[in-house]
Amino acid sequence: MGVPLFNTSEQLLALRDELRAAVERVLDTERYILGPEVSAFEQEFAQYCGAGSAVGVANGTEAITIALRAMGVGPGDEVVVPSFTFYASAEAIPPTGATPVFCDIDPDTFCVTADTVRAALTPRTKAVIAVHLFGNVAPVAEIEALGVPVLEDAAQAAGSLAGDGRPGALGTAATFSFFPSKNLGCFGDGGMITTRDEDVAERARVLRFHGSRDKVDYEQIGYNSRLDELQAAILRVQLPHLDGWAEGRRLAGRHYEDAGLGELVGLPRPVAGASPAWHLFVVSHPEPERLERALAGADVGCKPYYRTPVHRQAPMLRWADGAELPATEHAARTHLAIPMSPVLSREQVEQVVAAAGQAAP
Ligand SMILES: Cc1ncc(COP(=O)(O)O)c(C=O)c1O
Repeated sequence: MGVPLFNTSEQLLALRDELRAAVERVLDTERYILGPEVSAFEQEFAQYCGAGSAVGVANGTEAITIALRAMGVGPGDEVVVPSFTFYASAEAIPPTGATPVFCDIDPDTFCVTADTVRAALTPRTKAVIAVHLFGNVAPVAEIEALGVPVLEDAAQAAGSLAGDGRPGALGTAATFSFFPSKNLGCFGDGGMITTRDEDVAERARVLRFHGSRDKVDYEQIGYNSRLDELQAAILRVQLPHLDGWAEGRRLAGRHYEDAGLGELVGLPRPVAGASPAWHLFVVSHPEPERLERALAGADVGCKPYYRTPVHRQAPMLRWADGAELPATEHAARTHLAIPMSPVLSREQVEQVVAAAGQAAP
């Protein structure tokens, strides 16, 4: 038996009855958009993160665009963003009218740092997107100390912990994705904006609703971007289990260390003070294709996620002129995601490590 790259279905088996009941509850109320389930989940999620407010939106990409606009980002502004991330982190910037400015990462944590962000700041910088990549937690307070507001892209970091709180409550605002494979996933698309600033939350509520408060008068060009009642009801069933699942991910990471994986590949390093709920467990290898072949040969799932970094994707080239991002290029060339899930067992980890040993020099 092989080891799959991820496994998010097993954790839901035990919740099937509760999930069915939640769906029926929505059918019974016949409220499908912006009803009681979304309001309740927004409150519960804000409380979970330790954020003041939460605003449910349609997905994690629009969450970024709407949050940036709610933070006052617009035409003529620049937004600093890492290039070693999922494309959407940067794709969400141009729809605000602002332009992305790409910054480098720490090669061991895969996250931006105050130094890599500082190198990309200009007088036009209006915000920084700190991506909590793979479940690690970027040093948000150190970046805000540079004097620029941070939007946390926490799409991959639900359940993670930082020394000073949880993702979602570390910066001016934060965004989450509830794409099904995420640490907290729904049964379709879904997203959330959290913020400590009630004015930002209020602007985001208006923006997600066509730029209106009542669909009678319109204040601005907005979006039709709501988390729906069914997804919210499904997420409410799962949220109380998120910490347990996160602990399973941490434990799997410790199993990898205990099994000696660090002697074969470069292990991801948590940012100082962070306790990541590893969304993906991404290792480094000088010849990742060789590692990939060894793992695939043993039926172990693996995947390079970001071989071409965002700033070298065709639509981004116009904003990447002169960008020199050596750590990003290195990470793009050498990274490989190996199995990770809340239910990854010690035995499975040992199987992965044995297979990785076949790629040792
Ligand atoms: C880092 C990051 N940012 C943004 C997104 C976008 O989220 P969504 O797919 O819900 O639009 C994702 C996930 O897909 C992501 O991994």
